[in-house]
Amino acid sequence: MSPHHVHLASRRRMLQFLAASPLFARGALAQGLRPSDPADWAPRDPDKLIADPTKALDVFDFEPVMKKNVPPAHFGYMATGVDDEVTLRANRESFRKFELRPRRLVDVSKIDISAEILGTKYDSPIVIAPTGSNRAFHPDGEIAVAKAAKAGNHLQILSTVAKTSIEDAIAARGAPVWFQLYTTQRWEIAEGLVKRAEAAGAPAIAVTLDVRSSAKWETFVRLWRTDTRDCGSCHGLNDYLSRKPNFAGIDLGGVSSTVVTNLTWDSIKRLRDTVKVKLVLKGILAFEDAKLAADAGIDAIVVSNHGGRVEDGVSATIDVLPEIVGAVGGRMPILVDSGFRRGSDIVKALALGAQAVCIGRPYLWGLGAFGQPGVERVLAILRAETRNAMQQLGAPSLKDLTPAMVRRV
Ligand code: FNR
Repeated sequence: MSPHHVHLASRRRMLQFLAASPLFARGALAQGLRPSDPADWAPRDPDKLIADPTKALDVFDFEPVMKKNVPPAHFGYMATGVDDEVTLRANRESFRKFELRPRRLVDVSKIDISAEILGTKYDSPIVIAPTGSNRAFHPDGEIAVAKAAKAGNHLQILSTVAKTSIEDAIAARGAPVWFQLYTTQRWEIAEGLVKRAEAAGAPAIAVTLDVRSSAKWETFVRLWRTDTRDCGSCHGLNDYLSRKPNFAGIDLGGVSSTVVTNLTWDSIKRLRDTVKVKLVLKGILAFEDAKLAADAGIDAIVVSNHGGRVEDGVSATIDVLPEIVGAVGGRMPILVDSGFRRGSDIVKALALGAQAVCIGRPYLWGLGAFGQPGVERVLAILRAETRNAMQQLGAPSLKDLTPAMVRRV
């Protein structure tokens, strides 16, 4: 190495050292070497709350309004993940690993985002994921959600532990609603819930598979500890299920929890023989299970990690979606949820092979912030963003979204 090279090498080391130092970063910013971040000029300010739903620019604008409106324990129940919340964050961050590849020179003057899901046509592939106890966020609870789903013609999946019965939800939606099933530890309870949902007109039962232990919801507990109200005045001991309308008239036999440790493929076979309507499995993350589901004659699956609420350290759903699509090979529709907040997130999953995308927390933000108009606006924003994303991609309809429009980086 010549002295000249030695000089260059040490100069490079010095530059690397400087680049890593916070002093240099500040200096560079002052000299205009770092491009300005638009957010520096108009930062999102959680203290400047939107006063009505029409002011929202995106779904995130609703969350601080909900935080202000609902008790800390209830906000914590909505927001929490498990342990270090690595999966909760990965659900958002992993979308950055997938970049869009727009195709130009395609006529996008008409965009059709309508979707067919298990034989029914909806105005969009955006589905209301089942979430429990919606009256913890607004007195109108699931009824407000159902009416908002009606306004935008969305598929709604009602939770077993909703504060509204499946009959009332279907009446408010003015159309069939899917029923999400927690089987509980007792087969008779599952059977009773299925019969009830079928009699009410639910065209599909979505069995949730992933609540197998009591999750360590640390964010929930921390926020709950700041709540000064007397929780016991609304929540009794061991009456979690018996207070939920879907269990009315069903003998609980001492069961008081949705944690299920005894579900196996034998239970699914038994359910397949019992359920007369479509049977959907929610909470699939491994492609092996997706393949077994298709083999077992299941009508659809929801690829889901429950929004990072049941276990930490599992993959973001967008990361496992491609291998699941591959294993299923078109034998049944695949829905996906967990972390979807933008139209661009939604089109990535659709292009990779999902038929529909379920949304959880964002519509609860809208509900807690403004009730039904808030939910309506959240859904309208997501539809508009999805439409724009398809227009930019050069995909006039869902069938034009192909895996080649997404590149994994
Ligand atoms: C849920 N989720 C859920 N899932 C289910 O099958 N039955 C249920 O009762 C509930 N309850 C529930 C309550 C709350 C407050 C949340 C936030 C979520 C999970 C839900 O269906 C969905 O999988 C996730 O919410 C999707 O993730 P995002 O969109 O919230 O990130």
